[in-house]
Amino acid sequence: MPATAEELSNVLFEDQQPAPDDNRAELIEGLSRGQKQINPKYFYDQKGSELFEQITQQYEYYPARTEKSILINNASEIATYCGEDCVLIEPGSGSCEKVRLLLEKLKPAAYVPLDISADFLYQSAQKLGREFPWLNIHAICADFSDQWQARTELKSGRRVVFYPGSTIGNMEPRFAQAFLSNLREWIGFDGSVLIGVDLQKPDHLLNAAYNDTQGVTAEFNLNVLNSINNIVNSDFNLDNFSHQAFYNSDQNRIEMHLVSKNSQTVTIDGNTIQFETGETIHTENSYKYSLTSFTELSAAAGFTLEKSWLDENQLFSVHYLSVNNTSK
Ligand code: AVJ
Repeated sequence: MPATAEELSNVLFEDQQPAPDDNRAELIEGLSRGQKQINPKYFYDQKGSELFEQITQQYEYYPARTEKSILINNASEIATYCGEDCVLIEPGSGSCEKVRLLLEKLKPAAYVPLDISADFLYQSAQKLGREFPWLNIHAICADFSDQWQARTELKSGRRVVFYPGSTIGNMEPRFAQAFLSNLREWIGFDGSVLIGVDLQKPDHLLNAAYNDTQGVTAEFNLNVLNSINNIVNSDFNLDNFSHQAFYNSDQNRIEMHLVSKNSQTVTIDGNTIQFETGETIHTENSYKYSLTSFTELSAAAGFTLEKSWLDENQLFSVHYLSVNNTSK
């Protein structure tokens, strides 16, 4: 880790040295399917992260600002649900931006950001630690799907998992259920989950949110090809694809695709991938829930939905889930 001018006594950085993913195999496998696909995690290279930040500033893209307002407006009540001196764990914490909205009210015994990117996590934890000198930060660089909790010793206190941003919307419901179900192993019988979930709403609002008039979402979607060109030896030409995003109301999800403008061949590490005109690469799903369907998903994962906070237009939701100890 980089040497710092000042060592912060409130920030502990633990590097579990997660094994890097085998991106190459995953990318080639996804692009060899009948419906070609790319894992949305590849959106977030430097440029993609900046573009996503720009998306959140677009008028049509309501989720980010709406979740922010829900957290700000309900911070006191959220803190009451979480209880005093909890240990707040955030998987995929990124820049630790949203947790700032809760910290003053929540006053957790510790904040545990988990991220796979060591440098970014280190920098984000340092920055947060300088802004909140009273806050105990235990940053852990880990693959959070890989037994991170068995390799560490957290402060004692009720565990609360913070999972904002409707990131769960990227998962197919059966994987979302498995993800939630897994969280019970992190938090024990008395822990809880505070999670942001995007809501179902009229199609035109959803379609607009993923087709902003400034074309930022289009640029974000296309940028995934650049991101991949930089990770593996591939020759995607962005000019040969166009952005497509639509609400699939049968599956309750926004689908993003990249449409091949012509018949073309792309090479990835010596593998040839053939595209017909109009053929697509499916780059992202963003599932939308109703209060009922998210309550059901939570229950299937072994949680009781204790409380939901919504904005006045019911565009977005933040939920407090506790472990259901009566189900097996
Ligand atoms: C970061 C997954 C919540 O699904 O709305 C924004 C990503 N994709 N515009 C979402 C995204 C296109 C975003 N999530």
